[in-house]
Amino acid sequence: MNKEIKPLHGVWASRWVFILAATGSAVGLGNIWKFPYITGEYGGGAFVLVYLACILVIGIPVMTAEVMLGRRGGLSPIHTMQALAKQAQGRRFWSLIGYMGALAGFLILSFYSVIAGWALYYVFKMPTAFTDATAESVDAVYKGLLADPATLTGMHFIFMVLSMGVVAFGVNRGLERMVRIVMPLLFVLLAVLLGYATTTGHFSEGLAFLFTFEPEKLTAEAVIVAMGHSFFTLSLGLGAIMAYGAYMPKEMMVGGVRKPVSIGSTVLIIALLDTLVALVAGMAIFPIVFANGLEPAAGPGLMFVTLPLAFSQMPMGILFGTLFFVLVVFAAWSSSISLGEPLVAWLVERGWKRVRASILIGVLAFILGMGTVFSFNLYSGEEYQLFGRNFFELVEFLTTNIMLPLGGLLIAIFAGWVMKETHARKELMMKNFKVYLVWRAVLRILAPLAIAVVFLHAFGII
Ligand code: TRP
Repeated sequence: MNKEIKPLHGVWASRWVFILAATGSAVGLGNIWKFPYITGEYGGGAFVLVYLACILVIGIPVMTAEVMLGRRGGLSPIHTMQALAKQAQGRRFWSLIGYMGALAGFLILSFYSVIAGWALYYVFKMPTAFTDATAESVDAVYKGLLADPATLTGMHFIFMVLSMGVVAFGVNRGLERMVRIVMPLLFVLLAVLLGYATTTGHFSEGLAFLFTFEPEKLTAEAVIVAMGHSFFTLSLGLGAIMAYGAYMPKEMMVGGVRKPVSIGSTVLIIALLDTLVALVAGMAIFPIVFANGLEPAAGPGLMFVTLPLAFSQMPMGILFGTLFFVLVVFAAWSSSISLGEPLVAWLVERGWKRVRASILIGVLAFILGMGTVFSFNLYSGEEYQLFGRNFFELVEFLTTNIMLPLGGLLIAIFAGWVMKETHARKELMMKNFKVYLVWRAVLRILAPLAIAVVFLHAFGII
C-alpha cells in the first residue's frame, strides 16, 4: 500500500527535514502568542507545571504514536486510519480519528489565520506606530486594529492565501527552505528579547510568576486548558503530525548516510524545541508586563501590547521589532500549513487536483474565519455569546480543549490497544527496548487515564 501512494504527496529528503517541518508545525502562535496569555489568565506557575507535565506524560507519547501511525499508513490521516483499522481487524469507528481531526484542523485554521493576520499588521505598523510608545499608545493601536473589521479581514485574507499557497505547491517544496531560515532566526530574536527582559529590573518577578507553584490557582478549567494547550502547541490530536509522518520513509538520510530512523528520539527533539520556545517567550514577556504595570491576564492582546512597548525602548528597537513580527508570521505560516494538509491530502487521494483542493479549503476556512474577525468588533457584545464565550472563544475552546484531547485519547487507545503490538514495535524501531516498554505502558495506561480524568473533572463528574 505504501509504495504506490507515497509519491503522490512526496517524501521528506532527510530526517533533519522532517524535524524542521514538524518543529515548524509545532512552533507557532501557540508558543509565542497563546502560551504567555493563557499562563497570565490562569495565574502562572501552577498552570505552567501542569502544562509541562502534560507535554511529558501525554504529549510526547502521543506524538510518537501519531508519527508511527502516519508512517505505517502512508496516507492522509483519514485514509491512514481506515487502512490501519482494517489491518488490525478493528472497527470502522477508528476512522473517526481522521474525520474529527480533519474537521478540527479546518476549524483551527479559520481562527489561526485571523490572529496571524494581527502579527502581519504589526509588521507594517512597527516602523511607524511604535516610536516613543507608551502603554496607552500601544493599547490604542491594538484596540484600533480589533475595532476595524476591514483591516482584520484583509490581513486574514493575505495570510490564508500564503498558507494555502504553500499547501497547493505540496509541502516539501518551499516549506523546507522557509523553516531552515526562520527557526534559527526566531531563536536569536527571542534571545534578544530575553536579554532585554533581564534589563527591565523585573526579570525575577517574571520568573517567579512563571515558575512559583501555587496549587490554589489550579481550577478545573485551568487544568483542561493546560492539557488542551499541550496538544495545541505540539500540533497533536488532529492528524497533522500523522500526515507529516506519512511522508517519512522507513529509511532516511541521517548525517549523509541512509539508515532506518527511530521515531522516538526524533519526536523528543521536536517536543524539546517547542517547549523551549514557549518558555523563553514567557520569560521575555512577563518581565515587560510587570515593568510597565500591565495586566498579566490581559488575554489575547498580551503579546501585542507588551512587545511593541519593549521594542520601542530598545536600541534599534524598530528594526528588531519589525523583524520579530516578520518571524512570528513565518512561524505561524509554517504551522498553519499543517492544519490544512490533512484535509487537502485526503481530497487529493480522492482524485482532486492539489491546487483545487487547497483553494476550496482556503476559501471555506476564510469564510468561517470571518466569525472570528467579527468576534472582536461587530459581534463582541454579550448578546452574541454562548456559555459566556464569543464565536472565536467557542471555536477555540471546542477545538483545543475538547477535540484535540479527544483525538489524542483515541490515538493512544488505538495505537496502544487496538493495533497489533508487533506492528507498532516494528514501525517505531526504538533502539532501547526498555524505553519502548515505558512508552507503551504510558501510552496504554497513563496517557488515556490522565486525559479521561481531566475531562471528567472539567465536566464536574469527578
Ligand atoms: N502547534 C501550532 C502552534 O503552536 C498550531 C498548530 C499547527 C496545530 N498544526 C496543528 C495545533 C495541529 C493542533 C493541531 O501554534
